[in-house]
Amino acid sequence: MTTARPAVPSVGLASTLAVHGGTPVSASPVPFMLPKLAEADIAAATAVLHSGMLRAAKKCEELETRIAQLSGAKHAMTCANGTCALQLAYEPLFQPGDDILVPAWSYIATAAMLVARGCNPIFVDANPQTGQIDMADAARRITPKTRGIAATHMYGCPVDIDAVQSLASAKGLKVVYDAAQAHLSTWHGKGIGQFGDAVTYSFYATKNLATGEGGMTTCNDDALARQIRLLRSHGETNKYLHEQVGYNYRMNDIAGAIGCSRLDRLPAETDARRAAAKRYEQIIASTPAIARSLRALSITPGAVSAYHLFTIKLDLSTLTVSRDEFAKALLAEGVPNAVHYPRSLPQQPAFAKHLGNQKPWPVAEDFALSVLSLPMHHGLTDAHFGVVAEALAKVCTAYAR
Ligand SMILES: Cc1ncc(COP(=O)(O)O)c(C=O)c1O
Repeated sequence: MTTARPAVPSVGLASTLAVHGGTPVSASPVPFMLPKLAEADIAAATAVLHSGMLRAAKKCEELETRIAQLSGAKHAMTCANGTCALQLAYEPLFQPGDDILVPAWSYIATAAMLVARGCNPIFVDANPQTGQIDMADAARRITPKTRGIAATHMYGCPVDIDAVQSLASAKGLKVVYDAAQAHLSTWHGKGIGQFGDAVTYSFYATKNLATGEGGMTTCNDDALARQIRLLRSHGETNKYLHEQVGYNYRMNDIAGAIGCSRLDRLPAETDARRAAAKRYEQIIASTPAIARSLRALSITPGAVSAYHLFTIKLDLSTLTVSRDEFAKALLAEGVPNAVHYPRSLPQQPAFAKHLGNQKPWPVAEDFALSVLSLPMHHGLTDAHFGVVAEALAKVCTAYAR
């Protein structure tokens, strides 16, 4: 990685860009994420392999206890992945035919598992500043059949939990928070496990706490926790005694061990993500060429984000190119990036027949054309920030309208 940075070119010619044959800001790309395991994680997984106890056992239980404690939840149940975690939360709380408010701006699983439950997803537009579910829009979309809210803490940032809970109490709605991206985020200084009827997590390979595949549902109600545990494991109450129909959505102890080992480092790694986000915000604010053409998404007031992603929004009216061309140029300069997401959920073919006469989602559709995620992880160095700053300035300048 280059450390000494030349001055940002003052002449904004597109021909200076690496994507058009110019010299890249950095020949070696900034790592987009840092999924590498530590030796301790490998040792923890190996110890489980040596034990021969591969099923969900002590390590999954330890992960449950620790995440419950860290997030302020009473009960935590590991499961196979974040999609199963949503299903385990939705099935006891929502009934087939219920209308459930869900963000138009989220990963597909949040809404897809509502459809799997036989519920009608009522898509709610995004808040233009934060990208989180817009609770004023949610209130406007309530129907006589609305029974719940499934809200995603997008990019690691909690939604306006006070607004969600107050709409829920006014209308008698159940609430599930999808925290697949938001481990260790907080709301007014409190762990997010304290709010709503259930909270779900993913431990997928790229998540802040990654076990490969894995997930968790937390809740504060004893009866609900029992139901989730039953659903997770074929309704089994005693060996081969099945009280109800359920699934096999169990995690395994290799994943549990990796999760526990990584959890030792997660608070420090999350702090490093927060510091990285601050650096990015400073870079944007202090570089007029960048600030003119893009902004970081805002954090919900009262929330502290876990910064699963650092997502910017381009002001396309200031640029001569589309987001996708901007992204390609940034990559060529040595800054890998990704689009989360290229379509809003109502724009997904999978939901075409579930939209009925729902009103449009202009904010989410605008986000689909203009958001871009920059490298975000605990290992970003001064040199990396230097490359990103220079590359952003170079691309913004070259493509300025
Ligand atoms: C917001 C959100 N919800 C749910 C999921 C599903 O998690 P998993 O991939 O573990 O099934 C993800 C994973 O990408 C996610 O980002």
